[in-house]
Amino acid sequence: MGKRNLLVTGGAGFIGSHVVRLLVNKYLDYCIINLDKLTYAGNLANLRDIEHKPNYRFVRADICDYDKMQEVFATYKIDGVIHLAAESHVDRSIKDPFVFARTNVLGTLTLLQVAKEYWNGDYEGKRFYHISTDEVYGALDFDGTLFQETTKYDPHSPYSASKASSDHFVRAFHDTYGMPTIVTNCSNNYGPYQFPEKLIPLFINNIRHGRPLPVYGKGENVRDWLYVEDHARAIDLIFHRGRIAETYNIGGNNEWKNIDLIRVLIKEVDRQLGRPEGTSERLITYVTDRAGHDLRYAIDSSKLQRELGWKPQLCFEEGIEKTVSWYLENQEWLDDVTSGAYRQYYESMYHNR
Ligand code: NAD
Ligand code: TYD
Repeated sequence: MGKRNLLVTGGAGFIGSHVVRLLVNKYLDYCIINLDKLTYAGNLANLRDIEHKPNYRFVRADICDYDKMQEVFATYKIDGVIHLAAESHVDRSIKDPFVFARTNVLGTLTLLQVAKEYWNGDYEGKRFYHISTDEVYGALDFDGTLFQETTKYDPHSPYSASKASSDHFVRAFHDTYGMPTIVTNCSNNYGPYQFPEKLIPLFINNIRHGRPLPVYGKGENVRDWLYVEDHARAIDLIFHRGRIAETYNIGGNNEWKNIDLIRVLIKEVDRQLGRPEGTSERLITYVTDRAGHDLRYAIDSSKLQRELGWKPQLCFEEGIEKTVSWYLENQEWLDDVTSGAYRQYYESMYHNR
């Protein structure tokens, strides 16, 4: 594979930081440009270990800023895009849907349009790869069915509605202008560097500090969990070998009812902290359910497994053990993001907001 100039958006976030790390370490002859607005969810501390590598660049910018995106494409001669930048938390989308429409829909459209203009019909060797979620498919029942690539879109939250809309724009740019696009829809990720508003890092942190664990509804909702590095490996594989205009589902084949997963977390955190088994069970607190809470997500990733030979490498027990130990060992990272200390640092460092 020759030299490439790859734009990764949202690379300072949870999944993006794992993707950037993998690409920077693996493709020494590529230039990896991480473009991120550094919202509350973006944190350059996620990339400390690779930020000085010669094949890595960071640009702080908003994907909705058309002129800036044009400048970035021209400056770095971008020939591939892996687009992860998004507002990503369902609960925030319920409180403020507009920012989700702005970033997820208009931001994606801006990138598509700028890439189209910059590539100007010469799509040889180009790729626009859009990272999406299984939540666009809506909710499944407890009947064993799985989301297929052909499952009809049926988003319920403002978050999933905005991601569904962005997916449609990406496909429309292929169908209308011949843009070389790929879309993947992945299940819930977990692992290091996830912002502690999402279930797993939030609960690990709360268990550590003896704080209540707010379980929505009866805790019966089901999610299909995938270790984030397995997702990053899938993204690398699909970016390089996936078929243009295709959709690939990515999932862990690893369904957990929330309350069962929470009990696993309690057991593992208590074990790693040397507390007697069951100590933190008392923290479980049932709270009012999330509005429009999707009952069950579960992915059929057999197309990806069949076509490209991908499968998750980490089993769930190992993934949870690694994840719990990472958060317990990185209390400073957690304290910084929960206190907002890292944001003050950026605001003093970057004045171009
Ligand atoms: P995240 O919230 O941790 O990170 C998002 C990143 O995007 C942050 O660094 C943020 O600063 C950046 N960003 C937000 N708005 C921006 C803007 N306007 N311009 C530039 N940068 C901006 O999210 P994540 O969990 O890493 O998810 C990454 C992508 O993967 C998202 O597109 C999400 O929809 C998708 N996804 C996530 C999951 C999951 O379980 N987390 C599962 C499937 C798909
Ligand atoms: P989350 O991590 O927000 O991911 P998503 O909503 O994208 O699936 O939530 C995972 C599941 O955990 C979801 O069913 C909602 C539930 N949940 C709680 O019960 N309590 C919480 O405090 C949070 C954040 C989530």
